[in-house]
Amino acid sequence: MEIRTCDGIKLSEPYKIQCLVPDLPEPRDILPYLEEMHAARWYSNFGPLNSRFEAAMKLFINGGAIGPDIEVVTFTSATTALEAALRTIGLREGARVLIPTLTFPATATAVINAGFTPVLCDVDADSWEMLPHHARTMTASQAIDAVMPVSTYGKPIPTAEWDRFMQETGVPVIADTAAALGQQPAGEHIHLAFSLHATKPFSIGEGGLLVTPDAELAKRARSWSNFGFSGSGGVISQIGTNAKMGEYYAATGLAQIERWTQIKTRRQTVLDTYLEVLAPLDNRIRWQSSEDPFIPATFVIHAAGQAQHIASSLLDAGIHTRFWYLPPLYEHPALEGIAAGIDVKTAFPVTEELKHSLIGLPFHSFLSRRDVENIAATLTKIL
Ligand SMILES: Cc1ncc(COP(=O)(O)O)c(C=O)c1O
Repeated sequence: MEIRTCDGIKLSEPYKIQCLVPDLPEPRDILPYLEEMHAARWYSNFGPLNSRFEAAMKLFINGGAIGPDIEVVTFTSATTALEAALRTIGLREGARVLIPTLTFPATATAVINAGFTPVLCDVDADSWEMLPHHARTMTASQAIDAVMPVSTYGKPIPTAEWDRFMQETGVPVIADTAAALGQQPAGEHIHLAFSLHATKPFSIGEGGLLVTPDAELAKRARSWSNFGFSGSGGVISQIGTNAKMGEYYAATGLAQIERWTQIKTRRQTVLDTYLEVLAPLDNRIRWQSSEDPFIPATFVIHAAGQAQHIASSLLDAGIHTRFWYLPPLYEHPALEGIAAGIDVKTAFPVTEELKHSLIGLPFHSFLSRRDVENIAATLTKIL
């Protein structure tokens, strides 16, 4: 039998339970939009489907109600949306951007690719996120030009508190809310970047959104995504790139909006089942704390020092797990210099503990109650 490896662990049989299964529209649901696109012969360059998708996402993010006055700009990914915002918001040369230690590497690479310096901040021990009080402490003691909080594992960031932080300190907040689309409210001051990648709850395969209350920033970021063109004269006014969403993806997005209630309901059921069947283990494991209930993008549990043991044991039972957001940023070989001169054990004690304790269990729309009971039974045996 083929031996595959997963996160460094040998796997000798195919998974019985997958960690993540994308939930996208059927081709037949996308087809009417594709027919429309083909009839118009307009496939990219901010076509009619892209404009409709942006308008629909504005309502979607505001929960269908009148919310803050926001602009929504599509991109090829959350990574390019973040880079666009960083490059066009007006940061000084050599700007220092505060980011959490526990996040997907794109948070850091967006900062580096934009030409700035990431500055690391430890996360909260319970919600596993960088909070406004962390940013206040850091900005009070060193030069920080922008802050990028992350919606860890899809947990919405506290919008009102970050709005207040930005207003009171004048430090711009460009939040990496990649995994929180559908649950993360927009702010009145802060800027958000969402991912529409296949691994995300609201997915179109690949794509991203910049959501901002700043109409001028939206204009500059859109121009950056289109080589730097502005106006219709065919001249560039900044050095941009090509990071535009094409009409095929916008078509998938329009079809996906119609499925969102169903996706959310299924994911809520899976979450409720987990919380019920894992309740007897609550003296050995815990999950991400939050003041308001939310459905995570990836269901990560904390079991003190047991992450590797859980991954291996579940794998023996054919259950696939993932070490989401691990290793911490400062342990990626390509990001070595990011914590140069810092004693990470002293500077990031929470992350140093979490890195041995966090493990992502299977979490997606297609898990049955039996699957979740199976996972819980295996956990009960080994913990
Ligand atoms: C926190 C975070 N930031 C950024 C990204 C990158 O998103 P995209 O694949 O859309 O560039 C991800 C994707 O997993 C993420 O989880």
